[in-house]
Amino acid sequence: MGPLVARFEAGAGGDGRRRTRDGVLERHGRAPPRVRALACIARADESSSTSPITFSATAAAAYYVGAKVRIADTDPRTGNLEPASVEALNRPAQRARVVPVHLAGQPADLAPLAALARRHGLRLVEDACHALGATLGATPIGGGDSDAVAFSFHPVKHVTTGEGGAVVVRDPDVKRRLDRLRSHGIERDPACMQARPEGPWGYEVAELGWNYRLPDIACALGLAQLAKLPAFVARRRALAARYRVALAATFGAASGDHLDAPLAPPAELPDRTSAYHLFANRRRLAHFGTTRARVVAALTAARIHPGALHPAAPPARCTPRAARASSAAPAPAPIATTPAPSACPCFPRCTTPMSTASSPSSTAPLEVPHHDDPDRHNVRSR
Ligand SMILES: Cc1ncc(COP(=O)(O)O)c(C=O)c1O
Repeated sequence: MGPLVARFEAGAGGDGRRRTRDGVLERHGRAPPRVRALACIARADESSSTSPITFSATAAAAYYVGAKVRIADTDPRTGNLEPASVEALNRPAQRARVVPVHLAGQPADLAPLAALARRHGLRLVEDACHALGATLGATPIGGGDSDAVAFSFHPVKHVTTGEGGAVVVRDPDVKRRLDRLRSHGIERDPACMQARPEGPWGYEVAELGWNYRLPDIACALGLAQLAKLPAFVARRRALAARYRVALAATFGAASGDHLDAPLAPPAELPDRTSAYHLFANRRRLAHFGTTRARVVAALTAARIHPGALHPAAPPARCTPRAARASSAAPAPAPIATTPAPSACPCFPRCTTPMSTASSPSSTAPLEVPHHDDPDRHNVRSR
């Protein structure tokens, strides 16, 4: 692997300020991101307690190794894991991992989850694919004490390498194993080989691995992107502020942070900073006498391209057929966030009309490039 891989690894695990923990970069081949998955759920006899509102990949990480997925409840303000409901799912002596997802870039409540993990001897693994650049207290997401933190560098994410991702791990042995797995299981450290190598060129294939190496070229892109991360996040936050002001101006009292608000923008919590992968908002559409399809059509006509946020309980649907047949599919737990969340884009490339760009109180529409527009990707955004 080339020299830029290590340089990118050193910076990719947080927001560039943190250099202390090990990152392992990984490229996607035809198969799903197994290396990240293994870091998250390494054993078939460990269950994974996670959120129902997430992309299927969160649960897939467990299913790859035949582990069970337990669906916990979510905090209606944020859509993130509710620690008390995770506690209820985990019984003493059960092997398990807790997998919070920082939904749409909003950091989950890590402190109570970490305390719970300590109490029950569970591992804490963050799905931070939406949250590079977010902070919880003074700590960037990825810089805390969790056992593993997974990031995605897909082109719609905060930083891209074209495709691929990283997992930041605490345990140096796990890091070494992941290094090996992403490169065909190859071991080059003589101290870890079964037989003494003939020379410095010698290596062993210590276990079955894959080719998930991230190329140097992708890391060059990643390094350039990482330098822009603060600007990308600032831009996303500015767009979110603009959405918030526009919603309040348009809907008045119907829009607000309180739980009963018919239209609730994402919560802004004093102790954390969302990286706004998306501007996810909850709507009680009956209040407005409309449907999600009509809202989407109207926003699209205004050149804002929203998307439905992850449908509830996707893990059950992504259960491999074989596992389903053996009734491994979990019964979905009650989901607190009943109104379907949906999301407006916060991509840095979203444009604002020149005359109103500096005026956050303007309700002028945001212009968002069409889905097929390559300029919507970070790669070409600055
Ligand atoms: C919450 C979440 N987890 C995991 C992933 C998987 O990331 P990747 O596509 O880079 O494997 C995604 C992708 O969007 C995601 O949204």
